[in-house]
Amino acid sequence: MSDPRGWIDKMDGQKTVILGVTGCIAAYRAADIAGALKKNGIAVHVVMTKNAQKFITPRTLEAISQNPVTCDLFERDKPWEVGHVSLAKAADAVLIAPCTANILGKIAHGIADDMLTTTVMATKAPIIIAPAMNTRMYENPIVQQNIEKLESMGCRFVGPVSGRLACGDVGLGHIADTDDIAKAVLSVLDVKKDLAGLKILVTAGPTCEPIDPVRYIANRSSGKMGYAIAQAALERGGEVILVSGPVHIPPPRGARMVSVETAEQMRDAVLGEYENADIVIMAAAVADFMPESADGSKIKKADTGLEIKLKKTPDILIELGKRKKNQILIGFAAETDNLEEYAKQKLIDKNLDMVAANDVSLPGAGFGCDTNIVTCFLKNGEKIALDLAPKIKIAHSILDQAARLRGNV
Ligand code: CTP
Repeated sequence: MSDPRGWIDKMDGQKTVILGVTGCIAAYRAADIAGALKKNGIAVHVVMTKNAQKFITPRTLEAISQNPVTCDLFERDKPWEVGHVSLAKAADAVLIAPCTANILGKIAHGIADDMLTTTVMATKAPIIIAPAMNTRMYENPIVQQNIEKLESMGCRFVGPVSGRLACGDVGLGHIADTDDIAKAVLSVLDVKKDLAGLKILVTAGPTCEPIDPVRYIANRSSGKMGYAIAQAALERGGEVILVSGPVHIPPPRGARMVSVETAEQMRDAVLGEYENADIVIMAAAVADFMPESADGSKIKKADTGLEIKLKKTPDILIELGKRKKNQILIGFAAETDNLEEYAKQKLIDKNLDMVAANDVSLPGAGFGCDTNIVTCFLKNGEKIALDLAPKIKIAHSILDQAARLRGNV
């Protein structure tokens, strides 16, 4: 039984969810959501913002969660504990439901000025957000950018859905159904921690090969696939090193980032981490060619055409294959035709344990997409097709194979 005076007491093996409640009409739904989580055997600790208390009382949520509700950053029930840190540490997941545009913006920009936002900032647990706001606010590009940013950092969003809003408008902005919110929390809690104690080295994004100080050769890689793999590995308890070329997405929370520009820099960074890595996944779209010599000053527009002599970049994966000891080594194969033939050839040529091959010409699988279609070719001859799915799902399926190869099921 949980101790009604304690911050974080719970039964052995019981999962703890911090339920953040923010100030909007939908705050009353927090009672229902807390009840649904309790019914699933989850220890619920509610943290309310000041404005949330104008819509629902802490007492109601205390009765339903059967735990003290925290509203004030400086509450001193247990003066020797720093409340937001102990809650943040105890959380297996943090759910913010409902989440206003204001709190969304604060979290996306690292503002921590109350109990809920400091708890969110201090936690390493997965974060699930159920937004609720007026359609006009929801459609505001700033809100959309904040959602995109948080999503790419690994936060999960449930809803909003369309419905009749408090102001009488009908549109997108209504908080999701309690069942859908509970399901999202349960699926996050369900993620196995099979990579705990393992070092996962992931590369992502393009490399940029300078022609002169202002121009470079690169490719269309967005980094989304590699970042999703890093995110999934973190969710499964892995220690993640993410070696990334230049991209426009924020890094997943908890990954150790190594930022590089060129193939040679990526090679050095990867080799520096390789020895101690347990699983290595080369999702980067490493440029195959670099200018033979980069000009030190800007090349001026000449009347005659410009010729750039190119040479091959180092093939990082081939080098990793040659130096392989106990690492599970996984490469990607981005193809536009003969997928199976080329992928299998890369598996052999680069001494890999698995190739994740994708036909980048298919809709939903090209560079920059949020989804992918992948076929995994394993060195034992197995072929596993992963149908069109969000990149985070594909990432988990690739890691399922990596864990299996490591005999870690
Ligand atoms: N790769 C690498 N170093 C390079 C080029 C590619 O480590 N210089 C890695 C990629 O990260 C990927 C795999 O090799 O995991 C296959 O990359 P891909 O571009 O599909 O194939 P290439 O080996 O470059 O061959 P090709 O472009 O001829 O298909």
